[in-house]
Amino acid sequence: MTADVVKFRPGLENVEAAKSAISEIDGKRAVLEYRGIAVETLAKESCYEETAWLLMKGELPTQKQLAEFDHDLRQHRAVHLKLKDLIKTFPATAHPMDVLQSSVAAMGAYYPPRVVNDPAANWNAAVRLTAAFPTLVAAFARVRRGEEVLEPRADLDHAANFYYMLFGKEPTPATRKVLDACLILHAEHNMNASTFTARVVGSSLPTPFAAISAAVGSLAGPLHGGANEACLQQLEQIGGPEKVKPWLDAAIAKDSKFKVMGLGHRVYKVKDPRATVLQEFAEQMFAETARPKTYETALELERVCAGIYGVKGVYPNVDFYSGVVYQALGIPTDVFTPIFAIGRVAGWLAHWLEQLQGNRIYRPEQDYTGKANVPYVPLEKRP
Ligand code: COA
Repeated sequence: MTADVVKFRPGLENVEAAKSAISEIDGKRAVLEYRGIAVETLAKESCYEETAWLLMKGELPTQKQLAEFDHDLRQHRAVHLKLKDLIKTFPATAHPMDVLQSSVAAMGAYYPPRVVNDPAANWNAAVRLTAAFPTLVAAFARVRRGEEVLEPRADLDHAANFYYMLFGKEPTPATRKVLDACLILHAEHNMNASTFTARVVGSSLPTPFAAISAAVGSLAGPLHGGANEACLQQLEQIGGPEKVKPWLDAAIAKDSKFKVMGLGHRVYKVKDPRATVLQEFAEQMFAETARPKTYETALELERVCAGIYGVKGVYPNVDFYSGVVYQALGIPTDVFTPIFAIGRVAGWLAHWLEQLQGNRIYRPEQDYTGKANVPYVPLEKRP
């Protein structure tokens, strides 16, 4: 090992892995900005298409640019016929994230080129991927229920078209707005595990389909995007606000390092600003209907956990309320993380495009802890 190697830091905590101008987090002040614009403002005033452009291009689009981008996205929603056939071959019991990762990787087989040195072709691939994610997710969600795959509708925007492809009906304006805002809130979050994965894989210059499918795989884990699904299951398992305290006491008694799903974050040491916005949306959704038990349970869990974990800076993250919101929209639990991916693909692509500018392949060091000079014992002499 050379002398100037930076000492190993588990999880690469506090290690800068790239120079990036895409988003910034202030984990003490609950600030998240995409290209300098507060995520709360974007969630309330922008739309996913505009936010995706902002992330990938660096500036808000002009009216003409947005109209053209929106048109391009609508034109690229349909996926190759054989990709639909591929999706039909997966077992109905498959997790939708496994199917999404496989389908995105398979896109590389259908959409050339295999080199990434042409900015126009790279942009086309970015548009195709952003446009295709909702189609791939909705296709498997229907196929596994034995339903016909619906063709995308060019008269609907990104969020509304996804809802239509999933359920076969148009969303109400309020539902469309919530879904669109959820996609915006999940679109980017600087150097998280899946984004880092996209950059690492992208740095060896494979197709964007390889880099983005790897990012999907990383997002699927319960410590990352998979937490929204785990969080809702946890709320259902608790069974009601009055059961929160005994449930948590029992869990901690069994394992003092027990992790509450939807809590904690490497960067935020206060409540995640995205959780605050999602909670506002949840409040609006439940203003006229009875609050679901899962939401009441989540509120109580947040209150109880603040007393226990607040001292460590462990508060609700984006996944804490997203599951409750998606459940209220009628979305199946295992489609929560794929929706996260539909939003996040814009962030991954922004990082992939940024990585390609002045790319250097990732090749870190290791702190070797294994043996040395071990003699080889022939098989017949081993017990
Ligand atoms: N519940 C209870 N305690 C938690 C916690 C949680 N969800 N998250 C962190 N902590 C505690 C840890 O036990 C640790 O305590 P200690 O210092 O006494 O050992 C401390 O807070 C630091 O946690 P650590 O696991 O080292 O943080 P990390 O930065 O490595 O991990 C997460 C961050 C997100 C992976 C972690 O908070 C977690 O597993 N959360 C649950 C899964 C989740 O919601 N993921 C979605 C993230 S958006």
